Amino acid sequence: VEKSYIMIKPDGVQRGLVGEVIGRFERKGFKLVGLKMFRCPRQLAEEHYGELKDRPFFPKLVDYITSGPVVCMVWEGDGVVASARKLIGKTDPLEADPGTIRGDLGLHKGRNVVHGSDSPENGLRETGEEELITEGMNVSVTANPLRLFSQSVQSPG
Ligand code: GTP
Ligand code: MG
Repeated sequence: VEKSYIMIKPDGVQRGLVGEVIGRFERKGFKLVGLKMFRCPRQLAEEHYGELKDRPFFPKLVDYITSGPVVCMVWEGDGVVASARKLIGKTDPLEADPGTIRGDLGLHKGRNVVHGSDSPENGLRETGEEELITEGMNVSVTANPLRLFSQSVQSPG
């Protein structure tokens, strides 16, 4: 089943938009299969946005994502990755259409409320699914917060 990693960023959490964002995905009809609140460590934020590491705004982006708790979610359903990107809207909230999360709720590119996986492959990577698929193949894949969480619960000591 296709999965998307949706993360409510620190501004969304601080502004009390968690219910608003979750409600939009619920009303669309996708299935919530994982959720946790989490303070993202710097190294994990750098890995998550690794493909942007040479962009001038990268240090600020990592500062932002690590500035407070985020809400990490896995949403499931046919076409969830592309559909979630439509629900979220364009990266810059000033360019995002009304009716989208960023279009309705945001003002700044650097404070755009929510993240969504940009391809089904990245959906699997970011939700840790690829780690499960590649288990036993000695392939190291970026650990995501949910995966870290389940590891810390499942392997005490
Ligand atoms: P995500 O869902 O968070 O991955 O956003 P996106 O896929 O719409 O955009 P992209 O992956 O290209 O960039 C990741 C994040 O970096 C964006 O969501 C923004 O918060 C931030 N970002 C992108 N471009 C800029 C920029 O020009 N200036 C600043 N300050 N932040 C930017
Ligand atoms: Mg992106």
